[in-house]
Amino acid sequence: MKDLSSCKRVAIMGGTFDPIHHGHLAAAEAVRHRFGIDRVVLMPAGRPPHKDSDAVTQSEDRYLMTALAAAGNPLFDVSRMELDRPGASYTVDTVKEVMAMCQRKAKIYLISGADTVEHIKSWKNPQELLSLCSVAVVSRPGYSFKSLHSNIKHLKDEYGAKIYLIEMPALGISSTEIRDRVLKRLPIKYLVPESVEQYIAKQGLYRINDSILDEAELMVQSSLSEKRWRHTLGVIQESLSLARAYGADQYKAYVAALFHDCSKEMANDDKLKFCAEANIKVDDIMKKQPDLLHSFISAEIARRDYSVKDKEILNAIRYHTTGRKEMTLLDKILLLADCIEPYREDYGHLEEMKAEAYSNLNKAVVICLESKLEYTKKKNKPVHPLSLEAMDGLRGL
Ligand SMILES: [Fe+2]
Ligand SMILES: [Fe+2]
Repeated sequence: MKDLSSCKRVAIMGGTFDPIHHGHLAAAEAVRHRFGIDRVVLMPAGRPPHKDSDAVTQSEDRYLMTALAAAGNPLFDVSRMELDRPGASYTVDTVKEVMAMCQRKAKIYLISGADTVEHIKSWKNPQELLSLCSVAVVSRPGYSFKSLHSNIKHLKDEYGAKIYLIEMPALGISSTEIRDRVLKRLPIKYLVPESVEQYIAKQGLYRINDSILDEAELMVQSSLSEKRWRHTLGVIQESLSLARAYGADQYKAYVAALFHDCSKEMANDDKLKFCAEANIKVDDIMKKQPDLLHSFISAEIARRDYSVKDKEILNAIRYHTTGRKEMTLLDKILLLADCIEPYREDYGHLEEMKAEAYSNLNKAVVICLESKLEYTKKKNKPVHPLSLEAMDGLRGL
């Protein structure tokens, strides 16, 4: 961190910064401008006392991303103070330490998000903390001003706190959202500084990291048309969202979605040949509709060529077209994600499925199976008994 000894007004912005994004930087800049701050110190938290530290990215990565972001503004800086402090870290200690580095009588501002204000009273020594610094509260979009004002009033009355509210235009960015977008391979350009975007990509942060799967992704992509690969990416995104919503394993959801259609574009003759060689049982209905076989073949490719051994994943791939009796949570997630992924065309009942997907999974899967059934009947093709068994099972739930 640069020398602060000539600084008269310093603002400290603490945070997990996992990762830092333009919302943080815009808030810091607004405070700097409003109070004529000489230096804004971004302070990545060590082991955040209010967050589960296991779920937080390595300190060094968070520090380096924050440093990269700070490099874009000569009045911004980053400090390792809280990262290097052993044990739990407290804001009051940080403020004292920064004060000691500044000019005598320097004013310290603490930049806080609106949702943090209500927690200040439960921090270590709130009375002392609020006597040492002013608090600049940057309001976040969608935050209830009523509760914010009452929290601010409480801190003023109780501790004589100097608190200022800075309203920011709607910057609806959150670190959680950014991590989720990276996991789903959605762009984060313009949400974080370019250097941070590059760092995340280079270090493979927030992604499922597995070298065999990286190789598998390339294979799946190269074996599919552009349209089918786009669909696969859509199924990956939707499966990850559904897995999170219903508490399923996101890794398994990702692997199942990645492989689910990897043999979809194989010629029908080749599908039958593959099944004969791999001892995959082909019933009469499948013989007439070899497309149904792609689910079984894709599962076999995942097992045989990419060592996917997990039965739950392999079954989800196997039954993603027809469903089956007693479907597992992962079966349902993949079958539904296949039908409602964001790039999917509407083959009927799409809006209905989407409306139920995140509130009533079983109902959404039934609508999905019924819509497939309708489509099959329209084409005068026989319905596979697995689908009928799946529907019966789900309707009973
Ligand atoms: Fe499929
Ligand atoms: Fe699919």
